[in-house]
Amino acid sequence: MPRLANKVAVVAGGATGIGAACAVRYAAEGAKVVIGDFNIDTAKALADEIGPNAIAVRYDAADADSIKNLIESAVAAFGTINVLHNNVAITSLAIQSQDTTVVDIPIEIWNATLNVNVTSFLLGSKYAIPHMIKAGGGSIINTSSDSGRVGDVVRTAYGASKAAVISLTQHIAVQYGLQGIRCNAITPGVILTGAMKEDPALVEFIRPHILTPNFGGPEDIASLATFLASDEAGYITGQAIACDGGHLAHQPQMADVRKAMAEANAN
Ligand SMILES: NC(=O)c1ccc[n+]([C@@H]2O[C@H](COP(=O)([O-])OP(=O)(O)OC[C@H]3O[C@@H](n4cnc5c(N)ncnc54)[C@H](O)[C@@H]3O)[C@@H](O)[C@H]2O)c1
Repeated sequence: MPRLANKVAVVAGGATGIGAACAVRYAAEGAKVVIGDFNIDTAKALADEIGPNAIAVRYDAADADSIKNLIESAVAAFGTINVLHNNVAITSLAIQSQDTTVVDIPIEIWNATLNVNVTSFLLGSKYAIPHMIKAGGGSIINTSSDSGRVGDVVRTAYGASKAAVISLTQHIAVQYGLQGIRCNAITPGVILTGAMKEDPALVEFIRPHILTPNFGGPEDIASLATFLASDEAGYITGQAIACDGGHLAHQPQMADVRKAMAEANAN
């Protein structure tokens, strides 16, 4: 039997990149899938591609009523919600380039980033959890980031938002675990989506710091998310699981040591 047979999965921020790969994979594993996104044309095209077990719903993660409508639309279409994947984030380079240092960041950029990247996860969970409890339980997956685990020279709001996602994940796991709800975060490293390809300089900075020969793709996150969504992960909750090619798994000086050893061997 497919791993997500008889489950209804909502992907919030599912039109492109990681969310799209997860939506495709959830459907391939037997789930009925609701793709929420403000890029509705792309979300609809994806739902059409998946087939009758998928629908697209226009929603804006910056708007509480819109998030409520996404959850209610899923229940209206498919009867319940078993999996909620909070995946949305502000990924546009135009906005991220203004997400600078603590002293320089415009407060509007901070507020907008926290609102979309964290508050929308709280609200999606707030509206979905009562339906999940009625259904006997569920799985919430929150897309965080390596950026939520360490400091950086810029992207202060993005990093803080992704750290908050990990804490929110633990709070949900604690508060609703006995009612059958599991909640886990995924912390991707560089995943070569369209959003990430917009920032080739950042990608090249990170390249010497991963342990695998190549960067991951959206399907790598989809594999992990599908497992977390399924009953096979029934004893896993409250975790932040990295899918990052080992980016944060080594001594900080590793790249320098590798380079020095290669130079010594060449001489
Ligand atoms: N790609 C990476 O390397 C990487 C690394 C770490 C974490 N992540 C995280 O993975 C998730 C997906 O990122 P991605 O790389 O696939 O980017 P993406 O831009 O392809 O995906 C984001 C999706 O959210 C939608 N969206 C953005 N703002 C919205 C809003 N206000 N309302 C509704 N929809 C909105 C976009 O239309 C898009 O479909 C994000 O949470 C991101 O922070 C990505």
